[in-house]
Amino acid sequence: MIQIYRQPRECASRLPLVIGIFEGEEIKIDAPIDGEIAELMKKGYLPAKQGELHKIYTFGKIPNEVVYLVGLGKRSEHSRAKIAEGCGKITFELGEDLLIDLTSFAGDFGEEETAGIIVETLAYNNYRFDYHRSEKSEKELRVGLISAGDLSSVIAKAMAIGVAVNNARDLVNQPYNYMTAADLADYARELVAGLNNDNLSIRIYEKDEIAEMGMNAFLAVNKGSAAGPKLIHIKYQPQDGPFIGLVGKGLMYDTGGYSLKTSMNTMKCDMAGAATVLAVLEAAVKNNLPVNLQVVICATDNRIDGGALLPDDIITAMNGKTIEIISTDAEGRLTLADAICFAQKQGCVNVVDIATLTGAVVVALGSDVTGLFGNDEKEVAAMIAASKEAREEFWQLPINESIRKKVRSSKVADLKNSTGRNMGASSAAAFLEEFVEDGTKWLHLDIAGTAFHESGATGIAVKTIYHYLKAKV
Ligand code: BES
Ligand code: MN
Ligand code: ZN
Repeated sequence: MIQIYRQPRECASRLPLVIGIFEGEEIKIDAPIDGEIAELMKKGYLPAKQGELHKIYTFGKIPNEVVYLVGLGKRSEHSRAKIAEGCGKITFELGEDLLIDLTSFAGDFGEEETAGIIVETLAYNNYRFDYHRSEKSEKELRVGLISAGDLSSVIAKAMAIGVAVNNARDLVNQPYNYMTAADLADYARELVAGLNNDNLSIRIYEKDEIAEMGMNAFLAVNKGSAAGPKLIHIKYQPQDGPFIGLVGKGLMYDTGGYSLKTSMNTMKCDMAGAATVLAVLEAAVKNNLPVNLQVVICATDNRIDGGALLPDDIITAMNGKTIEIISTDAEGRLTLADAICFAQKQGCVNVVDIATLTGAVVVALGSDVTGLFGNDEKEVAAMIAASKEAREEFWQLPINESIRKKVRSSKVADLKNSTGRNMGASSAAAFLEEFVEDGTKWLHLDIAGTAFHESGATGIAVKTIYHYLKAKV
């Protein structure tokens, strides 16, 4: 648990005080210790390089018993990322009650922006997934941000984003036996109920209703599963006008199906796209973003039994296009194809899909850069700009005629669901593009490399999409 409040500057306090310091600059904390600290700095005992942390005991000279100095590097190189990096040092380990001198971290950035970054970063860094551990971390971190201005709204908004990101991480970290399609649907229902907003509604479609709508690409993936599929559909309409559709891949577990994965560890993360869109909705509603949103998630696992989908099978998607199954492990694009069709049918004129879609994007961009595709360069540029605001790395990848041709090269159906290793991330994107109607502005985020690291779920893309939406108002 973490709690952040604003602390007026004039309040004396015994609590530990955290201060950011720049290289080669004197610091002013309080007259009784400033001279001695300046002396220590001059002698080189307190380097201000990025990543340094110094603990200073004040022995009654000032009310704060301890001062932590956090190195921020050179002022001329200061950035939003460096504020966040400096905050990386501020954890439970420094004590459960801390005060942060906001202006010392700000450099030339504004207090409000700095406060937002600090709140988001502290929420992120003090996250733990101890749901299944006998020993849970009972620690609470209470942080006062020392500032002159009233920051309550900034803090609340940034905290809503931080909490949403951590909720996404919880959903992804939860293994399949605690997070089936039905569990995710229950979570979504509770989330919507908890947000308690008149402009918000949810509907969960069951298997027979999904079949009635002709979503046979989605159902094909579910054929080998012991658990039923769930189509989660949330609408948020704070104003008149068209909707932006947020479509999240909700593969609760991906074994590969009969094209079985040789190693499937960590494939509980294959619903990270779904977790992301639920978290974006949560933050958008809590912070009253005036944008009309729909969340669409086709939730199922990809498993094997006597009824499971087979390679060579031919299926018909919601929009009537037929698909030859080359690999049952290219299942995400099948569920997304129908989800994208559904979103458009429901009135979405912008569609953003988020998916742990291909191993190929990991080969291309690694684990810190999200692959971005789209059919509208303005929207692509807007998403890239939002990723910079959110301090997350996104990179555009191409869809070209040669890969479109390959996706359409089946001898027995309209499309193939896999075209082999080459250009794999683009091939998946080109496949999805077949389900985007004329006039729909579409973006596709492949988070296969960025959603889940050795340390667990990252919550990637929640902040970027939030900023993308915020920039639209
Ligand atoms: N869920 C996987 C992609 C993935 C890979 C997610 C690594 C997270 C980390 C996806 O369903 C998949 O299996 N993709 C195949 C597609 C191939 C068969 C065309 C892949 O990338 O190997
Ligand atoms: Mn797969
Ligand atoms: Zn998958």
